[in-house]
Amino acid sequence: MTDNPFHKLPHKDLISTARYTPDEIRAVFATAAELKARRDVHTGVLRNKRLAMIFEKDSLRTRFTFDIGIQDLGGSAVFMDHRDARIGSRENVCDVAKNLERWADIIVLRTFKHRVITEMAACCDIPVINGLSDFLHPCQALADFFTLTELWGDVRGKRVCFVGDGNNTCHSLMHVGSKLGAHVTVCTPEGYEPNSKVVNQAMKIGQHTGSEITILNDPDLATEGADAIYTDVWASMGQEDEIEERAAVFADYQVDEEMMENANDGAVFMHCLPAHRGAEVTAAVMDSPHSIVYDIAENRLHVQKAVMSMLSATR
Ligand code: CP
Ligand code: NVA
Repeated sequence: MTDNPFHKLPHKDLISTARYTPDEIRAVFATAAELKARRDVHTGVLRNKRLAMIFEKDSLRTRFTFDIGIQDLGGSAVFMDHRDARIGSRENVCDVAKNLERWADIIVLRTFKHRVITEMAACCDIPVINGLSDFLHPCQALADFFTLTELWGDVRGKRVCFVGDGNNTCHSLMHVGSKLGAHVTVCTPEGYEPNSKVVNQAMKIGQHTGSEITILNDPDLATEGADAIYTDVWASMGQEDEIEERAAVFADYQVDEEMMENANDGAVFMHCLPAHRGAEVTAAVMDSPHSIVYDIAENRLHVQKAVMSMLSATR
């Protein structure tokens, strides 16, 4: 008998949401909603399960929500800070995986190279969850669209506009948005567009779901008619030496009140956080009633609890 009442996802890992079907994403949202509504009920779902977290980069949200999430479900977490030595530098990634699976039941990784996560997952039989790589941030995009689903009911046909750098957060947003039939417009300075493979993937998915994917360089054009405007830092972790150069290139891409007014009435502001007030977003927009940034941060907890539960379920 299992204490885990949730349906199992037909995947071992969560590395990219591109591999999940729209129905699987909706099932994660349904589980997240149940866990959120009845936080005190599911305390034994992952009883005695151990979560191993290895992070090569800083984190507030991802670290806390996975740690608190597994504790909510009856398990515990062990955190290994790898900021000074990338995973694979002391012993190869596969050997790390083969050790971890003898002690732990789930692994969460935050890495520079995406390949470290795919390699770790290929080398062990326990679930591996991508807690952010240089390429993707799937847990973030699930929380983003779960939050929009709570707000709008259905995201199909809604316009989400990502303004800024075509980065990891943007890539996963395009994956999940296209799967759920939302229209995703990405607006970047020239040369900072999202990865063309991700764009093509999202456009192809969109042909089945009705999602339109648009890549633009003009913020006025991009944000007109948007139901949500999303931004992220201009220089991601690992790009610290480009901060000054990027600040100049991205200056016209700051989300301010004027940009929000160009969007639809009632358009919401989204950010994965951490935010740099006065850089990619003004303090006024961050603190406005249309900002849903802390709702999204809260939902990281519920969505990741759903993912951990469903990857570990037995039926
Ligand atoms: N959004 C997000 O992943 O935040 P952290 O970097 O603090 O984990
Ligand atoms: N794009 C950002 C996201 C942080 C959550 C980064 O990779 O630093």
